[in-house]
Amino acid sequence: MDIIHLLPDSVANQIAAGEVIQRPASCLKELVENSLDAGASRIQVIVRDAGRTLLQVIDDGCGMSETDARMAFERHATSKISSAQDLFALRTMGFRGEALASICAVAQVEVQTRKKEDEIGTLLEIHGSEVIRQEPCQCPVGTNFKVKNLFFNVPVRRKFLKTDQTELRNLLTEFYHIVLVYPKVQFTFVHNDEILLELPSGTEKQRIEAVFGKSGGKSYTGQFVDVATDTELVSIRGFIGKPEAATKNAQQYFFVNGRYMRHPYFHKAIMTAYSGTLSGETNPSYFIYFDVAPETIDVNIHPTKTEIKFQDEQMIFQILMAAVRESLGKFNLTPSLDFNREGEIEMGIVTKRCLNRMWSLIRIIILLPVLRRQVCRGGRNYIPRSGKSFMRRSRRIRLRTLLLTRRLWKRILSDMTNILCFRPMRG
Ligand SMILES: Nc1ncnc2c1ncn2[C@@H]1O[C@H](COP(=O)(O)OP(=O)(O)OP(=O)(O)O)[C@@H](O)[C@H]1O
Ligand SMILES: [Mg+2]
Repeated sequence: MDIIHLLPDSVANQIAAGEVIQRPASCLKELVENSLDAGASRIQVIVRDAGRTLLQVIDDGCGMSETDARMAFERHATSKISSAQDLFALRTMGFRGEALASICAVAQVEVQTRKKEDEIGTLLEIHGSEVIRQEPCQCPVGTNFKVKNLFFNVPVRRKFLKTDQTELRNLLTEFYHIVLVYPKVQFTFVHNDEILLELPSGTEKQRIEAVFGKSGGKSYTGQFVDVATDTELVSIRGFIGKPEAATKNAQQYFFVNGRYMRHPYFHKAIMTAYSGTLSGETNPSYFIYFDVAPETIDVNIHPTKTEIKFQDEQMIFQILMAAVRESLGKFNLTPSLDFNREGEIEMGIVTKRCLNRMWSLIRIIILLPVLRRQVCRGGRNYIPRSGKSFMRRSRRIRLRTLLLTRRLWKRILSDMTNILCFRPMRG
């Protein structure tokens, strides 16, 4: 007897949803990306209970015709590509054509949509892949998506959702990834009737400022320097935080062709460029926007589409590192160009600090043997009270001193370079 059979569409969609829609944040990402692809200039996100009961996205984009509205919820239904070739020249946000099919498989979806040329719009309601109603309706141009009771029919998934606080944080993180690359589009984010973000249209810098705001009365972007480089392979623009503004929880963002990406290798390029300028365990903030030919990247190596493969990663690594270094260099040199008094005072401080560090280093080198002998109670000439623990202490002291010496030595060298180049430096 044959035992293999095809799964019904509703089940196949639920399986696909497991990959595409993991939490309210992934749903938000898909809906907002669709609105952007539809050419919206204003997008409102309305959320209730961190997306558990309601996630609504309203746009003023191109809208859909009656037939398109129905088709949009079919699996592999897309207006964005028509051949495999198109996959490699993709400029829009998506291509899988399964986001809406996945969402409607695990939620109660209601959509109202109207095209500019149509007088009347369409209302469509789908619960768990099943069409409940489809009728004409009065609505503004654009699309209004309501996703209610996410995972209402998949209790296991609902149980895996985290607390509202965590899910809201995930929603906002996803929202930032999008709004930071579309500064011209107006966005609003409302949670439980409270407006959390109201972002007017502006430049990239204004958008960063609007999202991360002022801290301690200081302008956020005032602590950044520009990065810009243009090569045949890649064009890189963006902003990097001054080393002195580095913090433990830095904001670090990469975008490529208008979408957020994670790229640990390029992150390394930036950190290498910063090496020696950061104090302690602080990290620099950065917002870097790459522009490359779409056919030189593959955005589809990961279902959630945040990991992106570049054709010439090593070359781009070098270009990025050089661009960041150049910007940091410019920032370092600027104050010393006009030999003003402020520069002179700073040079005095650097020299004094360098001499102090040298003196500390000398003291450490002289005192180290004495210190160790004291701690180990005289080394060979004495019988230690408790052999093992003394040896352990001695080893620890040696290691710590070695680290301290190395750090001091590095700082002295960098101070001396700055003094020789007449370059005032930070602490
Ligand atoms: N807000 C919207 N305004 C206008 N058309 C939309 C909107 N949302 C979806 N659509 C239409 O529905 C189609 C299907 O959307 P869906 O998100 O399922 O797939 P996709 O965007 O093509 O690819 P992906 O699965 O990668 O998101 C889109 O191609 C688009 O034509
Ligand atoms: Mg989509």
